[in-house]
Amino acid sequence: MVVSNFFGILLVMEVMVFYGLRLGVHGLSMDYYMMNCPIAEFIVRDSVTSALQSDPTLAAGLVRMHFHDCFIQGCDGSVLLDSTKDNTAEKDSPANLSLRGYELVDDIKDELENRCPGVVSCADILAMAARDAVFWVGGPFYQIPNGRKDGRRSRIEDTFNLPAPVLNSTELINLFGKHGFNVQEMVALSGAHTIGVARCSSFKSRLSNFDSTHDTDPSMNSNFARVLSKTCAAGDNAEQPLDPSRNTFDNAYYIALQRQAGVLFSDQSLFTSARTRRIVNAYAMNQVMFAMDFQQAMLKMGLLDVKEGSTGEVRENCRKIN
Ligand code: HEM
Ligand SMILES: *[C@@H]1O[C@H](CO)[C@@H](O)[C@H](O)[C@H]1NC(C)=O
Ligand SMILES: *[C@@H]1O[C@H](CO)[C@@H](O)[C@H](O)[C@H]1NC(C)=O
Repeated sequence: MVVSNFFGILLVMEVMVFYGLRLGVHGLSMDYYMMNCPIAEFIVRDSVTSALQSDPTLAAGLVRMHFHDCFIQGCDGSVLLDSTKDNTAEKDSPANLSLRGYELVDDIKDELENRCPGVVSCADILAMAARDAVFWVGGPFYQIPNGRKDGRRSRIEDTFNLPAPVLNSTELINLFGKHGFNVQEMVALSGAHTIGVARCSSFKSRLSNFDSTHDTDPSMNSNFARVLSKTCAAGDNAEQPLDPSRNTFDNAYYIALQRQAGVLFSDQSLFTSARTRRIVNAYAMNQVMFAMDFQQAMLKMGLLDVKEGSTGEVRENCRKIN
């Protein structure tokens, strides 16, 4: 099943303008693999498409993994490295909370190493795979520049900088601000929660002993609190879709926030807070606006602290430094 996409064409113009502004600054380029591995984009798209046909839920895994990669040490594939006997890697942090998609990245890498050995970085594979996953679930299609090099550092302690689901809107604004995102971009990126699930352990603190005056989180409506409690009755690993349509990229996430039915405290805080509520309302009303802002913000996220030249390498195996 390929979800048809009504955003695509609208976005082309705007994206061109955006590239013009950014590409001078980075050594990445739109045709980075044109000479050495022109088939790279196709291999990634084909692999993502066939993987998602058998498991659509992997789309969320890929998008989240790209986010975690970029927020720690920049988009450099550090999230893909395995721990070694001397080093505990990012992926073994409690903050990895069920990251998914490693095997698919390995498969894509193997195929690319067969076709064009030593050319396509793991960081680029992840960026392309996340982009293709967004499109596959019905989101906007956008071109991304490539040329990210893979990093050599992946440390468990770096993951403390990832946003926790207990953060409020002010804290999220500050954290994303440190990475150069404005308030609107932060709210748009949070819209990635239009796909995927959270496990009970990520939201159960909202359901009992919430704070000194409330047993349950008052920002959540009481019917929805019952839905979450029911999910948690199956244990800490029980999954709750982050919005009512977990495999579809749409604006249902923002509409759910308006109904006080956001799954994570951090999600709901975007509606609770006056600073972000008007943006939530705008995206809930205008799906195209959300899609446009989302793809621009994703493009920007994909450029965070990118490594170039000798500051990085093209890993042979995404799990190990060369
Ligand atoms: C705003 C701050 C954010 C917080 C606090 C946050 C936190 C979380 C948490 C706690 C989960 C559930 C993990 C679990 O229980 O297994 C989750 C899932 C997810 N997050 Fe975020 N996240 C944030 C922003 C983002 C961004 C910017 C993206 C991507 C652009 C993203 C993409 C995802 C996706 C796709 C899932 C579902 C994963 C799956 O189904 O496997 N999140 N997030
Ligand atoms: C996530 O971290 C835990 C340890 O906190 C580890 O047991 C688990 O294997 C990791 N998950 C992945 C997918 O690497
Ligand atoms: C957000 O959390 C911070 C730190 O816990 C707190 O100082 C602040 O008052 C909170 N802001 C809102 C709007 O609740």
